[in-house]
Amino acid sequence: MEIKSINKINYPRTNLNIAFTPKKKSDHTIPPQKTLDGMTIMAIPIIAAINHNQEAIRGKNITFDGQFQPNSKSIPKKSNSNPIQIYSAKDGYNKIADHYDTWKWQKFWEENEMPLIMEWSKNKKNSYGADIGVGTGRNLKIFLDNNNQIDGFDISDEMITICKQKYPDYIDKGTLNCYNLSIFDINNSNHKYDWIISNRVVSNIEDLEKFIQTLQKIIKVGGECFISDVHPDRNYDYTHLNIDNNDIYIETYKHPIQQIKQLFEKYNFEIVKYEEFLKDNLKLTNTIKTDIKPIFYYFILKYKG
Ligand SMILES: C[S@@+](CC[C@H](N)C(=O)[O-])C[C@H]1O[C@@H](n2cnc3c(N)ncnc32)[C@H](O)[C@@H]1O
Repeated sequence: MEIKSINKINYPRTNLNIAFTPKKKSDHTIPPQKTLDGMTIMAIPIIAAINHNQEAIRGKNITFDGQFQPNSKSIPKKSNSNPIQIYSAKDGYNKIADHYDTWKWQKFWEENEMPLIMEWSKNKKNSYGADIGVGTGRNLKIFLDNNNQIDGFDISDEMITICKQKYPDYIDKGTLNCYNLSIFDINNSNHKYDWIISNRVVSNIEDLEKFIQTLQKIIKVGGECFISDVHPDRNYDYTHLNIDNNDIYIETYKHPIQQIKQLFEKYNFEIVKYEEFLKDNLKLTNTIKTDIKPIFYYFILKYKG
């Protein structure tokens, strides 16, 4: 099968709305909210995340600032007898997997995030890397073209199945291995990676400290990480995807940037670079409503051992 190049992907047809999730364990429900002024998702199917007082959101009105684009059609109007169902990341991404690559916000990420990844990838050649939360493998080609050996991990079997379908030749050659595994179940203590990339996954992770501890366990001393996500200051409450008039809500967790930085430092990751981007510094933002809060961020990290 031909590898889909980024430029060949056709977008839109799916609207994803992000919001916040008030709870964590797998599929569960929350009481209906009185007000959901939707905002469309952005990058990722993503996330929001919850910090400690997020439980307080439950039962209260939720409002969104239109992180990307308000989409009134997808504003849920649920009655008390019809509570909103919140899916785990695994189940939620399984549900939206077929729509992920055609989601209209992919173009936003390709224009704004992809160049940063490409820049970072320049000195990653003939090395051994991992993509945590690889999804449908949208960022793999850059690294495969540079003769890297890559392990892709994803908790969603449907996402990883699509990823495998895109890269059969690399899988046959053994340069790409795709694993339907949560980061927390990676157990390859014999192999340490030269680099790790994880794009728009942190907001799917409730236990960020455990996530960073796992990165530490699987990376070489001197190895680099590229970690990016929707900025936690964006005013959305949980991940909401509207696909063919079906609303999918995925649990999400917002981790304050300061907390993320502290945890990286605690686990001996040097923050080589941190950047966050306001609307004015990005492309394809004309439909994004607010411009006073950063839209996304990325870290480049080096494990000091
Ligand atoms: C927003 S998508 C990003 C996919 C890909 N990184 C990209 O840039 O297109 C988030 C992905 O993280 C995966 N994910 C969420 N929690 C995970 C976990 N604990 N371990 C591995 N993958 C996870 C989801 O299944 C989903 O495919």
